[in-house]
Amino acid sequence: MDAIPVASADVSGNEERYAAEAIRSSWISSTGPFIDRFEAEFAELCGTRYALACSNGTTALHLALMGLGLRPGDEVIVPSMTYIATANAVRYCGAEPVFVDVDADTWCISPQAIEKAITARTRGIIGVHLVGHPADMDAINEIAAIHGLWVVEDAAEAHFAKYRGRSVGGLGTMATFSFFGNKIITCGEGGAVTLNDPQLYVRLKMLRGQGMDPRRRYYFPITGYNFRLTNVACGMLCAQLERREEIFQKRRQVFDAYTNNLSGIRGIHFQPVASWAETAPWMYSVQISPEEFGRTRNELIEILKQENIDSRPFFFPLHTLPPFTEVASRQQHSMQVTDRLGDNGLMLPTYNALSMESIDRICSVIRKSATSKLGIRRAA
Ligand SMILES: Cc1ncc(COP(=O)(O)O)c(C=O)c1O
Repeated sequence: MDAIPVASADVSGNEERYAAEAIRSSWISSTGPFIDRFEAEFAELCGTRYALACSNGTTALHLALMGLGLRPGDEVIVPSMTYIATANAVRYCGAEPVFVDVDADTWCISPQAIEKAITARTRGIIGVHLVGHPADMDAINEIAAIHGLWVVEDAAEAHFAKYRGRSVGGLGTMATFSFFGNKIITCGEGGAVTLNDPQLYVRLKMLRGQGMDPRRRYYFPITGYNFRLTNVACGMLCAQLERREEIFQKRRQVFDAYTNNLSGIRGIHFQPVASWAETAPWMYSVQISPEEFGRTRNELIEILKQENIDSRPFFFPLHTLPPFTEVASRQQHSMQVTDRLGDNGLMLPTYNALSMESIDRICSVIRKSATSKLGIRRAA
């Protein structure tokens, strides 16, 4: 049986050509026409004035938080159900993440939980658009406005998802993206910050480029970082943007095939989609109910592995991980939905080259694994 990976990048368009063009031109570092083109196109697609390409999604987050002046002693509210980079970036600034639960009907940060977690030290909120679903940005922005907080969207997993018809990326003070190899739009390793504020843009650009004064070459008025992305990588990103409709269409076909194929199986719960959300088809994700399905999520992952099929558990909730258990135990916020998703969430192989036969094979293994007395719900 052929191995089915959990993700595989589709770089079958002009990616190679543009990367080769950048190499041949010798503009291989962090200046060049593909960087300018990518930043302009990406900002337009996100509905923002600016985009800044960064070396990855983590440096994009770190850059955004430094730009906002996050300091030791500050607190930032983040969902516990997210990738560790969201909270690590808070720590890089010397601040503390305050973990809150996600909502069962979006799997994204709960606005009610945010309200309960605000203290005098809270500076901002990171609304993570988890597995392609936008967070409830109006509710988050309203809370932020009342308490004088900033809002960063972590859109690493949700390129071009829409919230009430508006693209993610321009819905808060700033947004960050990842272009890692398993993301919808990729260049292997890469990231971006999108924003509208011209002063913040200048500050972020300086911080991204070692703190160099934009008007005086090699004069550094502040301590900055090297978080830049190369012209070669941006060439790949330009090619990905040319093909974004095709990439989305193919991924949606994969999503539809899974939903059709799995919809009769008891104990498999699909990702909820809020009425105001248009999700980005990142990784096809389900929640396993062990009582109904008859096996745990981890058992199912093992069974799939034996059939040469890779899959991915959801993230360990951040409040349970060693770097954060101490702060989280002081915070003591309820994590019911997060804990359930951490135990039962499963991501299935999702990529453009995944054939319908492979999806049938994956779903048939899942169907055969269901052993509960209730078993498989009969088709009506
Ligand atoms: C929600 C979230 N935030 C941030 C990141 C960090 O991005 P990168 O891996 O490009 O540093 C990722 C994932 O990779 C992510 O899933």
